[in-house]
Amino acid sequence: MAAKIISGKEISQQIREKLKKEVQELKEKHGVTPGLVTILVGENPASVSYVTAKQRTAHDLGFHSVQENLPEDVSEENLLSLIKKYNEDPTIHGILVQLPLPKHISEQKVIYAIDPRKDVDGFHPVNVGKMVIGEPCFIPCTPAGILEMLARADVEVSGAEVVVVGRSNIVGKPVAILLMQKRKPVGNATVTVCHTGTKDMLFHTKRADILIVAAGRPKVVTGDMVKEGVVVIDVGVNRIGTTPEGKAILCGDVDFDSVKEKAAAITPVPGGVGPMTITMLMKNTVEAAKMWAG
Ligand code: GUN
Repeated sequence: MAAKIISGKEISQQIREKLKKEVQELKEKHGVTPGLVTILVGENPASVSYVTAKQRTAHDLGFHSVQENLPEDVSEENLLSLIKKYNEDPTIHGILVQLPLPKHISEQKVIYAIDPRKDVDGFHPVNVGKMVIGEPCFIPCTPAGILEMLARADVEVSGAEVVVVGRSNIVGKPVAILLMQKRKPVGNATVTVCHTGTKDMLFHTKRADILIVAAGRPKVVTGDMVKEGVVVIDVGVNRIGTTPEGKAILCGDVDFDSVKEKAAAITPVPGGVGPMTITMLMKNTVEAAKMWAG
């Protein structure tokens, strides 16, 4: 049976239409325009393309959007003072510093420097802590996007065996925490997290009702590693080449062609989790603006 394709592009479009109306309403009724600053250090091609897409979307939704491009060798001190400036800027409701950062800059210091009320990435320990104990907070954008996709594709999460491949602070850990929580409509699952220390990956992936792959390596999950009827969420975006026109050729962490033959549903790359991450960033920024609007 051919797998249902869960299109992040289509779901994103629906959410963005709704957000556009909310932005208009915020402007008209409260005189508030959601403001987002994206800070990019250096010229890593993947980061440049993510930040460009975030800025373009913010602009399309009617945000006040600011992009800061800093040179690769910017000092940590200068980056921290720029964050401080935006913490104090009332026209800015969300601050995003694109990761990874160059080695001479401490990611931890940078994340701690962002006002948790403007931390639309949900990376600040205050937000991470609130997420763990189930309090309202900014939820990291990729996990939030995954939850939204599962909900809109009507995937039964409660009681499901969920296997997450990858334990990053950005995706693996938060998505595992969110899916195990007693929350509706997407939660209450039994969650296993696999990582580079896992002895028998196959044992775990074969058992999964829902498999979330954020390994950061191309095509690590193949058709022979999953069971019939699994729902697969592929978080990976790997650049495996360029077209003669200079466009990046992308693939996921999942071998789409072999896995789709067994899956009940699967997300594509591109057009799956990627657009959802950007959309949830916009949603978090609108929420931040509402909070500051009172
Ligand atoms: N790098 C990869 N994903 C993300 C993300 O969601 N936010 C930020 N700030 N950097 C990233």
